[in-house]
Amino acid sequence: MDDRFIIRRVHGVQALDSRGTPTIKAVVETRGGGRGYGLAPSGASKSSKEAVELRDGGRRWRGKGVSRALAMLESIVAPRLTGIDSRRQDLADSILNAVDGSGNKSRIGGNTTTAVSIAVARAAASTAGVPLYRYLGGPTSRLMPVPILNVINGGAHAGNDLAFQEFMIIPMGADSFSEAMRMAVEVYWSLKEFLKEKYGPVAVNVGDEGGYAPPMSRVEEALEALERAIDRSGYALGSDFYLGIDAAANHFYDEASRMYMVDGRKLDRGALLDLYEDLAVRYRLVYLEDPVHEDDIDGYREATRRLGHKALIVGDDLYATNTKLLAKGIEAGATNAALVKINQVGTLTETIDFIRMAVGSGMRVIISHRSGDTEDSFIADLAVAVEAGIIKTGAPARGERTSKYNRLLEIEWELGSEARYRPFI
Ligand code: PGA
Ligand code: ZN
Repeated sequence: MDDRFIIRRVHGVQALDSRGTPTIKAVVETRGGGRGYGLAPSGASKSSKEAVELRDGGRRWRGKGVSRALAMLESIVAPRLTGIDSRRQDLADSILNAVDGSGNKSRIGGNTTTAVSIAVARAAASTAGVPLYRYLGGPTSRLMPVPILNVINGGAHAGNDLAFQEFMIIPMGADSFSEAMRMAVEVYWSLKEFLKEKYGPVAVNVGDEGGYAPPMSRVEEALEALERAIDRSGYALGSDFYLGIDAAANHFYDEASRMYMVDGRKLDRGALLDLYEDLAVRYRLVYLEDPVHEDDIDGYREATRRLGHKALIVGDDLYATNTKLLAKGIEAGATNAALVKINQVGTLTETIDFIRMAVGSGMRVIISHRSGDTEDSFIADLAVAVEAGIIKTGAPARGERTSKYNRLLEIEWELGSEARYRPFI
């Protein structure tokens, strides 16, 4: 038995996420001198079906402190994980679920389990002396993801009146990940110039995911700006670049009237889908996330029926990285793609199960950050390990976003001529 991989110590410290909100940094050490950390991110536009974060309540940190979660980590999680083999990710994650016992991580916190689960994987990779993507994916993982970059922020992520949450550029004409990043950054800079000229200097303040948050109120204005920026950079919309939207429709759905509030208008589901269809044709949309509110599975199916032949219709709030919810979506034919966020479900094992189920059913998967994120670049390695082919991790700005892009640039360099890149759809 190789006892280098045995976990000798687990501990946690309080850290801060990109909004200044307390989060958990877990550290796992092995007998062989391996050491891994993991930081839990946090969403603002959450699904109601996500793993529950454990927060202190009360006045300190306006209730968002994590001292109770850290105490749980030290008192009940650490003793149970100490002594197990760090390569047994499934065992570590089932221990986390067993000590939690709630079914939704509410006792010890999804923030605790996420940080610890990631730290266990890193500790094992570090003990083995192999890069994380290689440890997780094996020697055949070499597909670099296409980046989907959120460069105009609205909805719950910005202080403007845009109903849709994210307006994204997708550099499909690139032939490598690093070329895709260069093209995307050039457009990001052109967008800054265009927005400054048209809306004044306040327009280039950035939102939570590093995209600009201009004082726009109509969704079409945002798409128009992206088209102009692509053009200014010397690229063509419809070949070099395509566009994407995360509507995050929960946030502009009015439960009482069962209507969607977009651009000052009240739209029923049919009219909203008409709008998407029109925008998709005019602005070459190939990616549409959460087009309707999370409980309207028929609405997702209808969106997929109408737009699925030319765009990925992506379930984020709909699935919350949960295999039970995904199974229902597969059964209903709800979407042709699924977003993956580790902290929505709270462990790496459950995340990988979700990815396997989605891919097995013919869906595309997109590995995603959260709007409140950290310098932890774990999802970059995960995207390569599972060969997801697509990553969504914000604008090429703000350290918590660039940490993922920079890690991918490093992986691409490390893979050298082995690296593969295949723009999707
Ligand atoms: P969140 O949003 O991280 O604020 O939940 C991101 C998304 O909806 O994709
Ligand atoms: Zn989303």
